Amino acid sequence: MSDLHKLIDQLPKAELHLHLEGSLEPELMFTLAERNQITLPYSSVDEIRKAYSFNNLQEFLDLYYAGMSVLQTEQDFFALTQAYLEKARGDNVKHVEVFFDPQAHTERGLPFSVAITGIKKALLAAQSEHGMSYRLIMCFLRHLSEEHAFIALEQAKDYLPWIDGVGLDSSELGHPPEKFKAVFTAAKKMKLKCVAHAGEEGPPHYVEQALNLLKINRLDHGNRAMEDPGLIERLKKEQIALTVCPLSNLKLAVIEDMAQHPALDMLNQGLLVTINSDDPSYFGGYVNDNYKALTEALDLEKHQVVQLAKNSFIGSFLDNEDITAYLKEIDRLAQLHLPPTES
Ligand code: HPA
Ligand code: ZN
Repeated sequence: MSDLHKLIDQLPKAELHLHLEGSLEPELMFTLAERNQITLPYSSVDEIRKAYSFNNLQEFLDLYYAGMSVLQTEQDFFALTQAYLEKARGDNVKHVEVFFDPQAHTERGLPFSVAITGIKKALLAAQSEHGMSYRLIMCFLRHLSEEHAFIALEQAKDYLPWIDGVGLDSSELGHPPEKFKAVFTAAKKMKLKCVAHAGEEGPPHYVEQALNLLKINRLDHGNRAMEDPGLIERLKKEQIALTVCPLSNLKLAVIEDMAQHPALDMLNQGLLVTINSDDPSYFGGYVNDNYKALTEALDLEKHQVVQLAKNSFIGSFLDNEDITAYLKEIDRLAQLHLPPTES
């Protein structure tokens, strides 16, 4: 294993862009389908994996929503979340800020309580058993109306102590952030953090709208912000964290080749870039796989890998005291990790 890969494995990291429903591995999908007597349009795990070939975001979303139909009970959401947290722990992830899509489940007839209760129990268990910290972010589905998002926010009111923020995901093109200005304003009044997917497929002015109208604390993806020098300057000045997802970008044809990924350019321009796995089951890798793929393709140096790990905490919603402690720990590890001496 290369030296930098070893360092990637060892560094403490935070993951800030992860859709729990997108961490549903084919094996668990089969188990839950059987348990809930749901017939899947696949006859094997291999067949599912073969189906994961996408030309754009929408082709992925169609399979993502179909896949999550096996999630029916609180225990199913517990198992889903527990499995992800175990993978993250194996990657030395110390803190997670995870998304879920409540409307995708209430639309299928599940009560709002089912997903969030199963998820919360698994997060609490990982915290008490392994000291992992977490934040939970509920996303509004942008292909649905703002009225629908308001219903989800209303349902969330009974669970507010469990919810740290709101996000915006699903089909980006044709559903600009401005469509959700009022519901984000309401969420902000409820003291929820605000994040939004923007600039994954959508143009730079979607990123601008997310900043100006949704008042986001953090930007999910943001790749296409790189087309607008004024926007780059603003993201840099305001130190808005970008949660970029290299393997996702490759699988969804946001980039043609990993060597074209904008993460290094973002780092070089002083942006607060973080590396994340998005929907790891569908995109072929968890967070360390994303760091490694990027490191190989862009020939990243040690100081850049270290900066990315630091950024993951700086861009998190952890308290400053916790962030400072992680940064110190990263510096300590990076110093220990010396290049091999010539012999
Ligand atoms: N983009 C937008 N919406 C999503 C994604 C994504 O990568 N994953 C789950 N919902
Ligand atoms: Zn995402």
